[in-house]
Amino acid sequence: MDRIRIRGGNRLTGAIPVSGAKNAALPLMIVSLLSPSTLTLSNVPRLADVRLLQRILQNHGIDIMVAGKRPGQTGMAGDVMHLTARQIAATTAPYELVSRMRASFWVLGPLLARCGEARVSLPGGCAIGTRPVDMHLMAMEKLGAEIEIENGYVVARARKGLRGAHIRFDKVSVGATHAALMAAVLAAGDTLIENAAAEPEIGDVAECLVKMGARIEGIHSPVLRVSGVTSLGGASHSVIPDRIETGTYAMCAGMTGGDVLLQNANAAHIGAVIDVMRQAGIDVEAVTGGIRVRRDGGPLQPVRVETAPFPAFPTDCQAQLMALMTMASGASFIRETIFENRFMHVQELARLGADIHLHGDTAEIRGVRKLTGAPVMATDLRASVSLVIAGLAAAGETTINRVYHLDRGFETLEEKLSACGADVTRLTG
Ligand code: EPZ
Repeated sequence: MDRIRIRGGNRLTGAIPVSGAKNAALPLMIVSLLSPSTLTLSNVPRLADVRLLQRILQNHGIDIMVAGKRPGQTGMAGDVMHLTARQIAATTAPYELVSRMRASFWVLGPLLARCGEARVSLPGGCAIGTRPVDMHLMAMEKLGAEIEIENGYVVARARKGLRGAHIRFDKVSVGATHAALMAAVLAAGDTLIENAAAEPEIGDVAECLVKMGARIEGIHSPVLRVSGVTSLGGASHSVIPDRIETGTYAMCAGMTGGDVLLQNANAAHIGAVIDVMRQAGIDVEAVTGGIRVRRDGGPLQPVRVETAPFPAFPTDCQAQLMALMTMASGASFIRETIFENRFMHVQELARLGADIHLHGDTAEIRGVRKLTGAPVMATDLRASVSLVIAGLAAAGETTINRVYHLDRGFETLEEKLSACGADVTRLTG
């Protein structure tokens, strides 16, 4: 199994191209189930999760063609993917595939909307929390589906098709908003979705749906109004830059006292992260072509942060911020409000010398003057990359095991960091 070896202590300087957003690319690929015409996505990141979803969608009969970079294109251009769901070959999403990636559960809405039926495995356990799907099911029921749970599968039927409805979520859910939106665009009549997630990835999906002929108002807001249409056509759409990858490399730069240009990054998508980094004493500036992040020698200042839905500080950057704060000059407090178990990185950061105490949903991070390298491993993607951030500043050698977590969400991480002067190597086998 591959590992990543980091010899810490190097300042990061140079430019890092930000890839297309994993959490936009995945639902955008699923959108292709809604139309018999071709959806062409560009700037698709080359990630293990994207490859797995390709397999899942092919199982439903989607024809997928992937083209790479054209001559002259820069390193930051992702894949171009053509997806055509002329006919849906299967409305079952099996356990073997859904259990490997939660987002594949999101095929439920489009399959129901297009075929009037879907049989999708419940996703099962997850390292960061219980992650129920009750709000997805509520939204489908409101839209007229009959739902039963049989043998670990959600069996949903809407024999006469879906019909518009008033859906109000009690809590903000990215996945349930995707599901409701993807189903409502082909439902008969109008749908009102209140307390919708307003994450940039939802807006990206909604904009793509509009290009395909959907009628949606309130895009990028918590209230979405959808007027159902009978069919959708094809479209071409470019995936937005990955805001979590942006935040992650910004913290790598801040941690090492570096100076890095994050090419193609969108500052409007990470306002809360930028605010916190500035409080921490890091210079973050939107510039032509991206975001510049610098820290010249001054100490890292401690911060108090709470994760919450967009536009607040994202849970997907919580572990990375914690790694950064391990070397602040004082005590930081980070409260995780989205997932109850998203602190699996704490014990691993401790192996590098971090001083972190958990008080329920809040981590108290007492800054230390020095981290030292060690072998570590993590149970999810963002936790793994927090160990990379700590490893970049730790004295000596840090080896990160279970690199497959990183490969799910970070494209060529070791190349991007090495190009800026970090000593990062993938050890294969
Ligand atoms: C998406 O997961 C992201 N995944 C996650 O990124 C991200 O952490 C999360 O949103 C929050 O921003 C993708 O986009 C592929 P939720 P999702 O539904 O949609 C509860 C990463 O590292 N809830 O917004 O599954 C849930 O338990 C991943 O890239 C219910 O109670 O998250 C959580 O507490 C990890 N019932 C909260 O809502 C439901 O039916 C928010 O979860 C659904 C969710």
